[in-house]
Amino acid sequence: MAKRKRLAPESTQNPPATSPHLLPQKKHYRQRAHTNPFSDHTLEYPAAPEAIDWDKHYPTFTGSGKVPEFADIGCGFGGLLISLGPLFPDTLILGMEIRVQVSHYVQDRIAALRVAPSTTSSSAHHYQNISVVRANAMKFFPNYFPKHSLSAMFFLFPDPHFKLRKHKARIISPTLLAEYAYALRPGGIVYTITDVHDLHLWMKSHLEKFPLFEYVDEETLRAEGKGPILDAVYTSTEEGKKVERNNGEKWLACFRRIEATRDVPDRS
Ligand SMILES: C[S@@+](CC[C@H](N)C(=O)[O-])C[C@H]1O[C@@H](n2cnc3c(N)ncnc32)[C@H](O)[C@@H]1O
Repeated sequence: MAKRKRLAPESTQNPPATSPHLLPQKKHYRQRAHTNPFSDHTLEYPAAPEAIDWDKHYPTFTGSGKVPEFADIGCGFGGLLISLGPLFPDTLILGMEIRVQVSHYVQDRIAALRVAPSTTSSSAHHYQNISVVRANAMKFFPNYFPKHSLSAMFFLFPDPHFKLRKHKARIISPTLLAEYAYALRPGGIVYTITDVHDLHLWMKSHLEKFPLFEYVDEETLRAEGKGPILDAVYTSTEEGKKVERNNGEKWLACFRRIEATRDVPDRS
């Protein structure tokens, strides 16, 4: 049997203080690859979206009244946030990550990028519009995002939970889709991508069955100017890069949030 490295419990593992202008190193933030989303993590969460002080996350936007408009669910090490930040400098982007060490890594990575000397046009942007929360999206997603506040949601290479009895831990399910549809404004896009074909079919079929989502193909999205987002979806994240290194296939499925239509009874 392969030897497993013993890891300290989440609460006792403290990442080293990172010098703000030095990018953090992943080796200092090691954690098990999978977390059970049903176990009771020692999580702090807001009572409601209105209780969140977004100025702490995005200080340069203080007074703008803006709230996050893009949500990266299970953002891992933050590759998508860092790619999209400079592309949408006026849009607040939030990552949700359940693993404490990984969320610390993303926090430290953003803090370092914000004070790093500008060497490229993307670093000149200073990443003021990206942030991360440590949160269990399965349990607390509605505590973060008010109705119709989001224009894009990302589910990039989510944990596949292969075994049938673990499917309930998948991040796309009918119950969760109702929460996502509530937060996403009509016209908003859900981006999903995975290298696990079975999970792709699962996400696609659940979204297809849900009345408030409509499949939208890649070509249409590119014609609407969303090509740079799609490129980031394919290539910016750590998991996406790993799939590329292993010559794996990537399965994309995107859906548009549509307006609810109510049948009004004909009284004539
Ligand atoms: C396979 S990784 C993919 C990470 C990233 N999206 C990427 O493409 O590199 C899935 C991530 O989702 C996180 N995750 C799993 N369940 C979650 C939940 N209920 N809430 C928030 N994050 C979750 C995991 O901790 C992990 O970092």
